[in-house]
Amino acid sequence: MTEFHSKIKTIQWIDNYSKMVDQTLLPYEFKYINITHGKQMFDAIKNMIVRGAPAIGVAGAHGVVLYALELEKENLSRDEFVKKLIDKADYMATSRPTAVNLMWAVEKQKEVIKNSESDIKGIVEELKQNAIKLEDEDIAINKKIGDYGAEIVPKGAVILTHCNAGALATVGYGTALGVVRSAFANDPTVQVFADETRPRQQGARITTFELTMDGIPTTLITDGMCSYFMKKGIIDMVVVGADRIAANGDTANKIGTYTVAISAKYHNIPFYVAAPLSTIDKSIKTGDEIVIEERSHDEVTHINGKLICAPDVNVINPGFDVTPHELITGIITEKGILRPDYNKSIAEVFAK
Ligand code: MRU
Repeated sequence: MTEFHSKIKTIQWIDNYSKMVDQTLLPYEFKYINITHGKQMFDAIKNMIVRGAPAIGVAGAHGVVLYALELEKENLSRDEFVKKLIDKADYMATSRPTAVNLMWAVEKQKEVIKNSESDIKGIVEELKQNAIKLEDEDIAINKKIGDYGAEIVPKGAVILTHCNAGALATVGYGTALGVVRSAFANDPTVQVFADETRPRQQGARITTFELTMDGIPTTLITDGMCSYFMKKGIIDMVVVGADRIAANGDTANKIGTYTVAISAKYHNIPFYVAAPLSTIDKSIKTGDEIVIEERSHDEVTHINGKLICAPDVNVINPGFDVTPHELITGIITEKGILRPDYNKSIAEVFAK
């Protein structure tokens, strides 16, 4: 059987446009849309048509190519083209603030622009090739994360995850769900408990969708239930993704992750983060420096367009929280599993 995840690419560069799964429609409809302009890509990232840290990194890289294609038509000098394109790339990097993969991938495209010795047409071509390279690397990296992670999954484990760090949060295979996929391939008795993940319900809408499509046994729980199942001894380990990891290991991930980590610590359950090295932001010492995205209040006050609370109640909606490094058992990367002291293990992995 070919699994669902290996038949799809969440985001892919095709000739002169970007093709992506519209994740706002899941789980009702699995539909691809084409993004043909830079501003359209900016909005697709901002409005979470594409979401998940590695996927929005690749989307940002595609966005730079789309802006390059637009500027190519403007009859600019090479210098003007480069200057305007760098400005557009910087703008693309502001489409969402927390996941560092976006800034990382845009930076990779800026390096291509700055280092190129080609004419405008040549720069555009180099940007396309670099975007495709980032796509291919993403899948290869996730498979390595999956294989390192699978080594520490006990036989028959029940793995709790929060939000969606799967094939649909990346180009393919997934980070946290990459670990699940590799573990399940070795041991079909592995199963998942998926937190619903309010307010946008990525766990319910996206994680349960992609895992059940791959035949991986999955149980959906609401966010408040995790301690209950941990106390009952049902959860063997937690594996989540990450949007940004500071040099000391503090990890920003979807709001609610911190609560899961505290509960895991209390119940003596290992809590792992699975992420590519591009999610590690060595420029920040601790998680206090991570900008937390503040999202629309409608995400909290409404479900499927329907008001679920008093219309004039006060609302606050941070999209992410930061799990302190002392709650994290290990960080599963494509270069192996990093262990505390993270200041040391992170510095070492980058020095290699
Ligand atoms: O707001 P989103 O859906 O883009 O946030 C994604 C997450 O926070 C995921 O949990 C994730 O771990 C990062 S993507 C692998």
